[in-house]
Amino acid sequence: MNNRSEFSSKLGFVLAAAGSAVGLGNIWRFPYLAARYGGGLFLLIYIFFVATFGFAIMMVEIAIGRKTKLSPIGAYKALHKKYSFIGIIASLVAFLILPYYSVIGGWVIKYFVTFLTGGQAATADDTFFTTFIASPVQPVLWQIVFVLATLAVVWRGVKDGIEKASKILMPMLIILSLGVALYSLSLPGAIEGVKYFLIPDFSRFSVQAVLAALGQMFYSLSLAMGVMITYGSYLNKEDDLEKSVKQIEIFDAGIAILAGFMVIPAVFAFSGGNEAALNAGPGLMFVTLPKVFDSMGMSALVGGIFFLLVLFAALTSAISLMEAVVSTICDQCKFSRKKSAIIVAVTAIVLGIPSSLGNGIWSHFKIMDMAFLDLMDFITNAVLMPIGALLTCIFIGYVIGVDVISDEIKVSSKFKREKAFRIMIKYIAPICIVAILISSVLSAFGIIVL
Ligand code: PFF
Repeated sequence: MNNRSEFSSKLGFVLAAAGSAVGLGNIWRFPYLAARYGGGLFLLIYIFFVATFGFAIMMVEIAIGRKTKLSPIGAYKALHKKYSFIGIIASLVAFLILPYYSVIGGWVIKYFVTFLTGGQAATADDTFFTTFIASPVQPVLWQIVFVLATLAVVWRGVKDGIEKASKILMPMLIILSLGVALYSLSLPGAIEGVKYFLIPDFSRFSVQAVLAALGQMFYSLSLAMGVMITYGSYLNKEDDLEKSVKQIEIFDAGIAILAGFMVIPAVFAFSGGNEAALNAGPGLMFVTLPKVFDSMGMSALVGGIFFLLVLFAALTSAISLMEAVVSTICDQCKFSRKKSAIIVAVTAIVLGIPSSLGNGIWSHFKIMDMAFLDLMDFITNAVLMPIGALLTCIFIGYVIGVDVISDEIKVSSKFKREKAFRIMIKYIAPICIVAILISSVLSAFGIIVL
């Protein structure tokens, strides 16, 4: 294991991990959740969770990776012979998310190309999105392009692939996001959207908002999917983990907030301050925003830049998902990186196809009233992810002991928030994770509405 690849610098690691965290979750999911659950209130709850549970669990995962220098299955096994199954769950989640994440990544490429080639007026039509995702061939082709782009980076390895790509894409992502957010804020009427997004309205507090923020926090920080363990395994023993996690979180929350600034004020300006325009749910980015862009003078340019930055965000996240699985196959089966990468890319393409066709010719095929893509999202994010996170907390808190993790953290620096960390891992996080698990399963069966 001594010849395991390493990131060349702390910056490289932070940018790669932030690249994993910042993705469709920040730009596509966060704004519509914030819009649904009371704007500023949701933002506040979200930031609270990122700074508390998010911090604790990310510290655990990166420390496990750095300590064992192994991908998730081997890492848990190295800590305790009987517990490699937690690593299996984590790798399985990454393996199952990658295909449908790539389907959505493919949609983003399609939108980017459409804006680039001057076809933006068509995207403003109500039927554009539904017709496109329902067609049998095109979305699959774009999905393949997305997987191949991801493969091209993972193929080159940790330093020359992942780290290099993150060092280029992440700064560009920030600059483009700032540009679009400033443009959105300059629109007449945008200020009402800013107020909605920033000022918490406590009368809209609900248990659902809290649970949605918790779930979003896990997803957005790429937790409980083996990714942070894998990236941690490429980290040297000198870097201050606490500082790195803080920086990754600031990056993630910062881009989520910028996404709110890009989307919410623009939609407010477009709809004349009508909050209802924000209620498009997942369609906010693919249906409402193109209309907003179309109504503005610089629609092709701003829309094109917007979908390009979403593409960068999605790519760096997909890279981390693919890397987590590739690294697991390399470690477990002793295959070369290239061979493992091809296996993972091909399976991602094949498994993504039902997620794509489920929006069209296979739409009659439903399980628990969910199309295939929604079903995959449900199984991974609502069921396996919380189970994996819960097992991790129990394993660390009660089987091997929190000291194993804090000792690893203290190899490179002081651990300032150690006390809070212990309480979080042993008591608070497990309770909250059980709450997410129960609520998401109940909502899937229609017993409660989330
Ligand atoms: N964190 C990514 C996002 O916000 O889009 C999604 C994601 C990437 C989840 C990698 C899980 C993961 F392992």
